[in-house]
Amino acid sequence: MSHYDVVVIGAGAAGLMCAITAGNRGRKVLVVDHANKAGKKILMSGGGRCNFINMYSEPENFLSHNPHFCKSALVRYTQWDFIALVDKHGIPYHEKKLGQLFCDNKSSDILEMLLRESDEADVTIRLNTSVEGIEKTEQGFELKTNTSDVTCESLVIATGALSIPTMGATGFGYDIARQFGHTIHDTRAGLVPFVITNQLKPLCEALSGSSVDTTVSCNGQTFRENILFTHRGISGPAILQISSYWREGDEVEINLLPDREAQSWLTEEQSARPNAELRTVLSDVFTKKMATLFCENWFASKPMKQYTAPELEKIATQLSEWKITPSGTEGYRTAEVTIGGVDTNELSSKTMMSNKVDGLYFIGEVVDVTGWLGGFNFQWAWSSGHAAGERV
Ligand code: FDA
Repeated sequence: MSHYDVVVIGAGAAGLMCAITAGNRGRKVLVVDHANKAGKKILMSGGGRCNFINMYSEPENFLSHNPHFCKSALVRYTQWDFIALVDKHGIPYHEKKLGQLFCDNKSSDILEMLLRESDEADVTIRLNTSVEGIEKTEQGFELKTNTSDVTCESLVIATGALSIPTMGATGFGYDIARQFGHTIHDTRAGLVPFVITNQLKPLCEALSGSSVDTTVSCNGQTFRENILFTHRGISGPAILQISSYWREGDEVEINLLPDREAQSWLTEEQSARPNAELRTVLSDVFTKKMATLFCENWFASKPMKQYTAPELEKIATQLSEWKITPSGTEGYRTAEVTIGGVDTNELSSKTMMSNKVDGLYFIGEVVDVTGWLGGFNFQWAWSSGHAAGERV
C-alpha cells in the first residue's frame, strides 16, 4: 500500500489545479481518474478552443444556495492569476466577446499547460483507476482502487458532476459526500437548450439554424445575447444562460427588439411608410424568413396604414414580450454544467475542507457553485482547486 500526503480524485480542471498548488508546496500528491485521459472536458470545452476564463469574473456570475460562498476563493485566485499562468506558458489567446478568453489554437494548450505544471510539481497522475471504497482512518483516509490501495492525509473530491455522461460524468462525488454525512442540494442540468413540444414547435423547426439578438428574462434574471432556433426547440447563449435560472413550468420572456421601444418604432414606421407591409418593415430588423414566419404565426401582414393603434400595440407586445413555456431542457446529455451539489454551508469557503470530516475536501463542479456561460465555470474550478491546494 503506497502513502501520499494528498490524493485528488478527478483529473479535471479543479483536480489538476489543486494538485499543482499542493505539489508546489512540497506535498506528495497523487491524482486518480477512472478515465483513460486527464481533462477530457477541458479538451471539449469552448467548441475545442476552451473559454478558459472571463476577464470580468465577479461573484454575481455564480449561482449557489449560498451566493457568498464563492467570494473568498475567487478573490484569492483571480482571473488575472490564471491569465498570468497562461502567459507564462506563451499560450496565444483572444477575447471573443464579453470578457470571454479563448485559446487561439486548441483547448489542448490549456490541458498541456496543466500537465506540464503537474509534472514540474512532481504530481503523480494515475489514469484508468476507479476508487472502489474510501475509509476514514486515524491518520487520514484509505482508498481501495482497481489497481493498488493507497493511504493519504488529505483527500480531495474533484470528480465533477452529471453533465455529459458519455464523457465519464458520474454522481460519485455526491455518493462520497453522502457517505461522510454531507447534504446534497438537488441537482439539475444548467447551461442547456430548451426543448419545445407545444404549438411553438413548428415555428422553431421552420426557423431552425436562425439566430437573433434578444434579451431573455426569467425569475428576475435577464441576459442580452443571441437565441438560436433548433429542431428541438431554442438554444443559443441567451437561452443557455437563462436555463440555469429556469424551473419546470416557468415562463420565459423574450424581447426580440432589445434596442428599440417596440411601439414607438412601429408607430414611426407607420407614419414614414404607410404603404409598406408589416413583413417588409420587420425585415429591416429580422431576416426575411423570420419576418415572414413571425407574421404568419402571429399577425396577418398588411400595409402599415391598415393597423389600428391597439393592433400595433399588440404587435409591439408580441415582439418585445414574447412569452414561451419550454416543455423541458435537453438534460444532462447536452448540459454544460450541473446546478446544485454539495452544500457549501458544510464546507470552509477559505479551504474547501469539510466541516464534518477533517482532511476531506470538495472542489469544482461537485460543489453547489455554478457559473454563467463564458469562462466562469473554469474560473470556479481554478479558484476552488487553488484554495484547497493551499491547505491540503
Ligand atoms: P471535470 O468534469 O472537469 O473533471 C472531473 C474528473 O473526474 C474527470 O476527469 C472524470 O473523469 C473524473 N471522475 C468522475 N468520476 C470519477 C470516479 N468515480 N472516479 C475517478 N474519477 C472520476 N466551462 C468554461 O468555463 N468554459 C468553457 O468553454 C466550457 N465549455 C464546456 C463545454 C462542454 C461541452 C461542457 C460539458 C462543459 C463546459 N464547461 C466550460 C464547463 C466545465 O467544463 C466544467 O465546469 C469543469 O470542467 C468542471 O471542472 P471539474 O474539475 O470540477 O470537473
